Amino acid sequence: MRLSHCHNFRDFRELARRRLPRPIFNHIDGAADDEVTKRRNAASFEDCDLVPNVLRGVKDVDLSVTIMGQKLAVPFYCSPTGLQRLCHHQGERAVAAAAAKLGTMFGVSSLGTVGLEELRKAHATPQVYQFYFHRDRGLNRAMLERAKEAGIDVMMLTVDCITGGNRERDLRAGLTIPFRLKLGGMLQFAMKPRWGLNYLTHERFSLPQLDEHVDMGGRPMSIGRYFSEMLDPSMNWDDVAEMVRTWEGHFCLKGVMSKADAKRAADIGCTGIVISNHGGRQLDGSRAAFDQLAEVVDAVGDRLDVMMDGGVQRGTHVLKALSLGAKAVGLGRFYLYPLAAAGQAGVERALELMKEEIVRGMKLMGCTSIVELSRQNLRFRAANGGNAER
Ligand SMILES: Cc1cc2nc3c(=O)[nH]c(=O)nc-3n(C[C@H](O)[C@H](O)[C@H](O)COP(=O)(O)O)c2cc1C
Repeated sequence: MRLSHCHNFRDFRELARRRLPRPIFNHIDGAADDEVTKRRNAASFEDCDLVPNVLRGVKDVDLSVTIMGQKLAVPFYCSPTGLQRLCHHQGERAVAAAAAKLGTMFGVSSLGTVGLEELRKAHATPQVYQFYFHRDRGLNRAMLERAKEAGIDVMMLTVDCITGGNRERDLRAGLTIPFRLKLGGMLQFAMKPRWGLNYLTHERFSLPQLDEHVDMGGRPMSIGRYFSEMLDPSMNWDDVAEMVRTWEGHFCLKGVMSKADAKRAADIGCTGIVISNHGGRQLDGSRAAFDQLAEVVDAVGDRLDVMMDGGVQRGTHVLKALSLGAKAVGLGRFYLYPLAAAGQAGVERALELMKEEIVRGMKLMGCTSIVELSRQNLRFRAANGGNAER
């Protein structure tokens, strides 16, 4: 199986599965507890159907959107994910370059493996910095300052990681940060020598967003322990309001699910929220973002930009989310599997396929620009036997 054989999310996932050591594949593929929310994220898009219009003259389609002051050529972006150089030695460099080529936004995680400054210098496309709120307030201020100096366009605070999710696949593999090859897992890695060779022959694994600031005591720590021990479980709305004031730019909360929280985000001056359950990796049993989208858009859509992520695998999923009122959609595993499978070429192919699917879907829907998508084009099946407009 080669990259040219990959035509959709499932193909990229399969190629990644074949090329990655088992523990790394499981780190990307896995989620919390019984992974119910992860499954529901993908399934949620199938509870409604698109209702196209025809004969609308759809020769030219404009996919551009503006979110939080950033113009994107396409209505999707690469959501921040950590440890990308574990997927592929090109890591964040590949994702940033592919996003820039397509003219869209990408996020750099606090747990990123390439420095935010390097990526900022390399690309002019909008860049998000994904922030985790640490116990040490001085450290938080220093990290904000650093991002500001680097010229980050949007600050994105992840609020659904107040403690670590129970990711049992990672626990079984003994995955730690900084990443260390463990003797027990050696066999799994020996079975994928190409990955191991790349890992050993490229620059040393590091966490440049954290290394300068956080002392992990020189010992590896499980990802669950990082969340539980380094991050501040007492973080509250006042803390975030202060951060928004300090940042003085576009500020977004990632991981908001309820209407009430969405309203508070608007009250404290956030310019965006991402409805998200962290790809099902935190609170298992949490509702899918797509299921929660309409009520949040109705509550705050006129006050800030509402985005969503989770389970997006197809252009038609993006069309459905935009029809409900999302301003743009975040991708996670959708670009991580191609990254793992084939580095930058993989991410470019996946993002390009997503764009093509959306262009095709827009034409078939009879729409030439994103604003033409609306709830008129959508019907939900389950609630009342087939005619629920939300
Ligand atoms: C391997 C992996 C690592 C992630 N790391 C982060 C992270 O460091 N910070 C963050 O806010 N979200 C992180 N996420 C969540 C994504 O940003 C996004 O919310 C999620 O992947 C969307 O779901 P999807 O993978 O089904 O598209 C991660 C997700 C995955 C799969």
